[in-house]
Amino acid sequence: MKPVRKIIFPAAGMGTRFLPATKASPKEMLTIVDKPLIQYGVEEALAADMEQIVIVTGRGKRAIEDHFDISAELEANLKKAGKEKLYKRVSHVSRMAEVVYVRQKEAKGLGHAVLCARHWIADEPFGVSLADELIISDEPAMQQLRRVYEQTGYSVLGLMQVPADQVYKYGIVAYQAEEEGLLRLTDMVEKPQPEVAPSHLAIIGRYIFTPRLMELLRDVQPGSGGEIQLTDAISALAKEEPVYGVLLDGQRFDAGNPAGFLLANAVLGLQHETYGEALRTALKARL
Ligand code: G1P
Repeated sequence: MKPVRKIIFPAAGMGTRFLPATKASPKEMLTIVDKPLIQYGVEEALAADMEQIVIVTGRGKRAIEDHFDISAELEANLKKAGKEKLYKRVSHVSRMAEVVYVRQKEAKGLGHAVLCARHWIADEPFGVSLADELIISDEPAMQQLRRVYEQTGYSVLGLMQVPADQVYKYGIVAYQAEEEGLLRLTDMVEKPQPEVAPSHLAIIGRYIFTPRLMELLRDVQPGSGGEIQLTDAISALAKEEPVYGVLLDGQRFDAGNPAGFLLANAVLGLQHETYGEALRTALKARL
């Protein structure tokens, strides 16, 4: 079995749910407490031993590239000013990972975004992570997937239970329970209405794929919302070879919409070692 070394972060979406905040800056750069959303995702991937990060960007996404670049002037200024702690944090961001960028020229859907990275992936297994699904857990979410990949040698999707009235927002899976707590996924449907949803288990933005997925993506026709859906390619893959699901352990925030984003800031802010206590006191005084 080939090891998973590469991971794709699709980041070319328009961020319409966050307008006007995302009019001139990428939604992936929106801040949760003191770090942009995409940095959480990249740190999670590195904690799961991913070696190469492929970020699929589009128009107006330059800030992401700048964020992971070395900023020599800023670093020199921080050093000169004796701000050692800040210097370390800033220089860490630009040196922590090997990041490459691919442009998605048109917004044709998540499946198309992943396909844009095919030359970087070649014939290796690979991860995909959606940064607006923020998952805070003891064992990094990607590592939870990696364990199942290393046990089975097949593709793995991160899943969580969602309420019936929310299934229309997600890819929803049909599954069979196998030995050792494994879930073998037999099908998946993108954004079904509740009456036709095969379960309440939703795909939560974390994936590991065998290389075959990339080949199947080439043939996927526009599906839900007129877009090339990753879920449709996974459904085709599950008809050819096993695809597994893992119930993710951790706190999950749908930071891709303002309500989930605010909740993530509130919860992580209150838990933060530097700001938590003061925030709690200030909120108590105001509410
Ligand atoms: C995407 C996927 C969907 C998945 C969801 C998780 O949808 O297409 O299968 O359940 O992410 O957040 P999007 O939210 O980009 O419409």
